[in-house]
Amino acid sequence: MKPNYKEYIEGTAKVLRESEKESEKYEVEILGRKFVVYPNVFSPKYFFDTEFFAKELPVQKEEDFLEIGPGTGTVSVFALINGAKHVTAIDINPAAVENTKENAKLNDVEDKITVLQGDIYSPLSEDDKFDTIFWNTPFGYVEEDVSILEKAVFDPEYKSTKKFIFEAKNHLKKNGRLLIGFSTTLGKFEILEEFLNQAGFKVRCLAKTESVETHPVLFELFEAVPSE
Ligand SMILES: C[S@@+](CC[C@H](N)C(=O)[O-])C[C@H]1O[C@@H](n2cnc3c(N)ncnc32)[C@H](O)[C@@H]1O
Repeated sequence: MKPNYKEYIEGTAKVLRESEKESEKYEVEILGRKFVVYPNVFSPKYFFDTEFFAKELPVQKEEDFLEIGPGTGTVSVFALINGAKHVTAIDINPAAVENTKENAKLNDVEDKITVLQGDIYSPLSEDDKFDTIFWNTPFGYVEEDVSILEKAVFDPEYKSTKKFIFEAKNHLKKNGRLLIGFSTTLGKFEILEEFLNQAGFKVRCLAKTESVETHPVLFELFEAVPSE
């Protein structure tokens, strides 16, 4: 029988609790490259969407790329390896900021990345504009407040997702685009779609994959561009 939404959310919480047992920094290999994972940071060892987005992200040559919520920095590193000119990466979790800096060094791209701590676009000035803004969003919809690590997977009432979408145009260049990591099984796509419509974006799915957390799930990469 297909799990109900509460069971999906409990499944994600269970995987997160498993990841929290790691008390020391450890190594993972993603698409043939080594990355370190700090305790208290969203971990590609336990969550398989990181590798999917790292692989599928359609990076344009020489683009200015903003990643919200880099976590370990894996996707940012691959965006640079795949041709981005510069990456700015902003995470609300200070451990993720340090983790991203270390992985950028480990993969020899530290000269092409700026890593900042803050809430969505808050560390940026109004002149900071990008060709692409990507966020593998915390697509689990919950109502209660969450801890700093839980913010990696749960977004209370989708308040952060809403801000990400409604303020995006302030930081997109002309012809810029949003790339959104999401799960239509673990997240509420109808709310995301409504935000995008209200903010004047049209959306399409670029890639999807079947995976397993505690239950079978889908992960999707969406592209959103201004409607006119
Ligand atoms: C699903 S994880 C993705 C991590 C990484 N991009 C990956 O794919 O492995 C979401 C990330 O968003 C960060 N985050 C959550 N809320 C945020 C906010 N309001 N502003 C910036 N980053 C946020 C989390 O700390 C976490 O690193």
